[in-house]
Amino acid sequence: MRSWTVLGAVSLCLLSASDVLAVKTHDFKTCSQSGFCRRGRALASRAQAAANQWKSPYSVDASSVSIASDQAKFTAGVKSSLYPDVKFSLELRVHEDGVVRVRMDEVGGLHKRYDEAASWALIQEPTIHKKVKWTASKKDVRASFGANKEFDIIVAYQPLQVTLLRNGKEQVVLNGKGLLHMEHFRSKAVVMTETEEGEPKPEAAAEDAQQVLAKPEDPKAWFEGETEDGLWEETFGSFTDSKPKGPESLSIDINFPNHGVVYGIPQHATRLALPTTSGENPFFSDPYRLYNADVFEYIASSTMSLYGSIPLLHAHSVDSTVGVFHAVGSETWIDVAHPTEKSTETHWISESGIMDVFLLPGPTPEDVFRQYSRLTGAAVLPAYFSLGYHQCRWNYVSTDDVRTVQKRFDEEDMPVDVFWLDIEYSEDHKYMIWEKKNFPDPVDMINDVAALGRKMVVIVDPHVKRTQDYPVYKEASELEVLVKPKGGSGEYEGWCWSGSSSWIDFFNPTSWDWWISLFKPHKLDNGRWSWIDSTEAVHIWNDMNEPSVFNGPEITMPKDNIHYGGWEHRDVHNINGMLYSNLTSQAVAARSDPPKRPFVLTRAFYAGSQRFGAMWTGDNLGTWEHMAVGIKMVLSNGIAGMTFSGSDVGGFFGNPEPEMLVRWYQVGVFAPFFRAHAHLDTKRREPYLLDEPYKGIVRDILRLRYSMLPIWYTLFRETSVTGIPVLRPQYVVFPKDPNGFDIDDQYYIGTSLLVKPVTSKGATEATVYLGEDQVYYDYFTYKAYRGSSKGKNITVSAELYQVPLFIRGGSILPTRERARRSSSSMKHDPFTLKIALDQQSSSARGELYLDDGESYDHQKGEFVWREFRAEKPNKKTLRITSKDLAAEKPGVAVEGVALAKFDPSNAYAKSLEKENVRVERLVVLGVPGLPKSVKVEGSSEELVWEYIQGVAAGESKKEGYTSILKIKDPKVLVTKDWAITVQL
Ligand code: NOJ
Repeated sequence: MRSWTVLGAVSLCLLSASDVLAVKTHDFKTCSQSGFCRRGRALASRAQAAANQWKSPYSVDASSVSIASDQAKFTAGVKSSLYPDVKFSLELRVHEDGVVRVRMDEVGGLHKRYDEAASWALIQEPTIHKKVKWTASKKDVRASFGANKEFDIIVAYQPLQVTLLRNGKEQVVLNGKGLLHMEHFRSKAVVMTETEEGEPKPEAAAEDAQQVLAKPEDPKAWFEGETEDGLWEETFGSFTDSKPKGPESLSIDINFPNHGVVYGIPQHATRLALPTTSGENPFFSDPYRLYNADVFEYIASSTMSLYGSIPLLHAHSVDSTVGVFHAVGSETWIDVAHPTEKSTETHWISESGIMDVFLLPGPTPEDVFRQYSRLTGAAVLPAYFSLGYHQCRWNYVSTDDVRTVQKRFDEEDMPVDVFWLDIEYSEDHKYMIWEKKNFPDPVDMINDVAALGRKMVVIVDPHVKRTQDYPVYKEASELEVLVKPKGGSGEYEGWCWSGSSSWIDFFNPTSWDWWISLFKPHKLDNGRWSWIDSTEAVHIWNDMNEPSVFNGPEITMPKDNIHYGGWEHRDVHNINGMLYSNLTSQAVAARSDPPKRPFVLTRAFYAGSQRFGAMWTGDNLGTWEHMAVGIKMVLSNGIAGMTFSGSDVGGFFGNPEPEMLVRWYQVGVFAPFFRAHAHLDTKRREPYLLDEPYKGIVRDILRLRYSMLPIWYTLFRETSVTGIPVLRPQYVVFPKDPNGFDIDDQYYIGTSLLVKPVTSKGATEATVYLGEDQVYYDYFTYKAYRGSSKGKNITVSAELYQVPLFIRGGSILPTRERARRSSSSMKHDPFTLKIALDQQSSSARGELYLDDGESYDHQKGEFVWREFRAEKPNKKTLRITSKDLAAEKPGVAVEGVALAKFDPSNAYAKSLEKENVRVERLVVLGVPGLPKSVKVEGSSEELVWEYIQGVAAGESKKEGYTSILKIKDPKVLVTKDWAITVQL
């Protein structure tokens, strides 16, 4: 049994901090314990020591350069002077949107390198630019592109170096430091000895012994080291990796000579602006590791691997943002250094696979998000309910327990959308099979929850209990879709919650339709098993999909296991978990006809996982430190596409005191995915169990979430089209303000709300950075604060019941303020518009996107997309308007819908009209004076309004309570164009 299942919260308290740290690290490799990482880093050290004598042995064979005549693409042969007989191919393409793809592979080697990572990550084969032309000279091949030809891409031959420039300034340089090295496949040299009879035999010890590779003066040694280090076999703890193909790692330096900050490569528990891996902090002496792993009780500040891996890095400066995405699925380590304040060097070392690097030219953060989402897809537009509050624990122990929890939420008037079941609902951890004693009436339970408009999420883990009485195992075994052990025959067996288990190989297409059919809540015609005691109200939680294997090396699958196509697990490890949530989300959608939007939560993820649902940051601890780092991790995931993310509210391990729990809810409420969860050994901590005043504070927080659902959903529409994350770090909103580059404890929700959650005990105040000369209104008190064009810190009150949340001047936010039990009961509720006038022109703008929140009809144009504006056409008038944005704006409103085809009076819009869904209140902040009259245009009737005298938006020197105009029930429909005129 794993240590953390027995190490409950109580025993944790008995451990000192250093003991706790020791618990977490010893199961996982450091770079020095991983042969290829050690080799890669040694290469970097030798290069550094040799300084300017160091020269990359890789060069382009100029005579082999072949340029496609009709496309921005060229291929060439590459050689290493160390191994003149080994051939490599290089291919460069410029995509339509300016992304440059650089691929390098070994040609005609002993084996084929894994080259399919991009095919899993990418949504489609990108279109190559038709107009960009490469020109080849004796020393390089180059092309210019961009609207004003501001970008140049240059591939130098000798040594091979790829440079992307913008306006003549270097943006990204590959192999500038000469660390490129693709270990070619080779035969193992066998040292022979003699038997006693004088017969030749392989020397037994030779397998382990470090064989001499080359003499020190040999350039090979200079480049590869003097001994063979972990090339053919590697042992870690009691595990031996047989490495049947020998060494095949890939090292490449990717440098940003003009960018001093880097972000991304999640998931790591660390700051958003990635600290260097230079060694001054013991937990940052190792490179950032990308190797999906079940790291229990992870360290709150470290470069260690966690559950997911996205090899995407942003490099940022006041001039530009650029991105690098390396489509590699094997274990990867990344060193980060800043040779100067304004430059960054990174070194990527991967265990296997081809080099498949995408250079995303930016030049703004938004451009990089768009470029990345054109490659790997944008986050899916979620089912509306999934943006509500989720109540989880390990475990709700019976169907009656679930009913009672639901009842208690309703009794306490606390809104909630989803109740979750962890692994104990299942018989012997055979997922989808109900444990009959405590869950005798599962469908009735689900229906009882659904009757109040709520959903359930039930866990289905990827380990399959190896027993013939489990239909999932039996059928998987018959179909031969289970992962194979080394050697490639039979079924791999490992240990997980269900005891002896096997894992479905989702790389095998035969598994796909079968897996999808398992989730059908009705009998199948083909006689196979399906989950008939389930309903469409059940959505799915995919946990342990790194995959977690309790008795495997580093708590995962051996790297020499075999997947479909004969690929080793080593090649696909980081991609593996994504296929699981991909197939599960297809399965959940396909239960209904027509399909409904699935909700699937995944723990493991890879580039592209955003297309399949949400993720959470795994088993955090109930500490202030973990609360704080969770925010940074969610921001980091967001910039790498996984914007639908959150952390366990309350902390998975431990029993948070009420103050901490309240603060944790204040963190969770501002995360895209908002779920409370707790370990089996923790005390019950559903929010209704709190005493006052804590209970009341949490009730208000939950209600705040529900009132803000239209804001979240509207932002998800945007992200689902543009890839721009829902949560935006300071550098994304203010890319030219260097004061904000390191800020990761406050962030914007979209561009209109600024939040600074409090993550320290006993806090009564918070400092918030305002990076512009603008008015910011306290969301709750409407007090006005002023920023400055040079940036300014303000101090605000942050007592336990307060969370610093500000509306940025110039924004209009649609909310629904009626307290309800769940999101489904709000679907016809009226709206409040919070109109925060800006400092410069007393104007504001905002959007509202709505659809049925569950079907795919929005892709057929069934939605409402409005733009609200407040403007001052003259000194005496403030005009507030609503207009149909879809009909106005060229482009795409939701995935797949070209606006040309949009019909503003679509059936969904009509249904809202029928229900009289209207704007029932407008709250205008910063109004410049007492109005004389307020009317809906076209009507002579004076509306009911109230004015509270205070600071006006335009009074740029003044802070304090702002002037507020509250307009009551103007009876304007949310689906219609209208204007309200305020005469000043
Ligand atoms: C590990 C997950 O991270 C945790 O959230 C879950 O409760 C346990 N597995 C049990 O399923």
